[in-house]
Amino acid sequence: MRYLTFALGKGRLANKTLELLEKIGITCEEMKDKDSRKLIFVNEELKLKFFLAKGPDVPTYVEYGAADIGVVGKDTIMEENRRAYEVLDLGFGKCRMCVCGPASAKELLQHHDMIRVATKYPKIAKDYFYNQKHQTVDIIKLNGSVELGPIVGLSDVIVDIVETGSTLRENGLDVLEEICPLSARMIVNQVSMKMEAERIKNILQRLKEEL
Ligand code: PRP
Repeated sequence: MRYLTFALGKGRLANKTLELLEKIGITCEEMKDKDSRKLIFVNEELKLKFFLAKGPDVPTYVEYGAADIGVVGKDTIMEENRRAYEVLDLGFGKCRMCVCGPASAKELLQHHDMIRVATKYPKIAKDYFYNQKHQTVDIIKLNGSVELGPIVGLSDVIVDIVETGSTLRENGLDVLEEICPLSARMIVNQVSMKMEAERIKNILQRLKEEL
């Protein structure tokens, strides 16, 4: 039997995923050592491997078959646009992709004015403004703390993830439009889905029963 490899987005999603896998009897003791700098972990008995990667790299590993299965946020799946089957909504990591800004910017979204949009998600922002709203915008890519955009005058609005809304509130910004709901998803390599259909479908079935 060959190894089935899981790529998990580092951080909270990975921890939640490991908790869920544990419920269906898939464990990886090695991975629980928080001080370890190891990147890849093996469960010899079940012939499984797990590795932790930066979220945006997870769909890449899965597309190329370096991982059979990946767990990553829907936002990353949309932004990276890699070839892979999205097979399961894991129900955690729930949040929303939104257009946010000062209340005064709401008006700018009603017309077809050229506005500036700061975001970590240029593809999602472009799809939304160009294809759904038919509004030509100037998209400015940032790598984090995107809420700064309208505050320091870099952009009119932002496209970003809103979970509790506290980052917006504490910075005097509002949700102006909602783009889509998000959560953690399981993705599968297209070839693995055929070659390892039985093992993968069995895992999916057991996960569905836990959700
Ligand atoms: C994310 C997101 C928002 C914040 C939303 O940022 O980009 O800034 O969380 O969460 P809230 O609605 O619960 O306040 P993250 O913490 O990942 O860091 P970043 O700003 O550096 O990207």
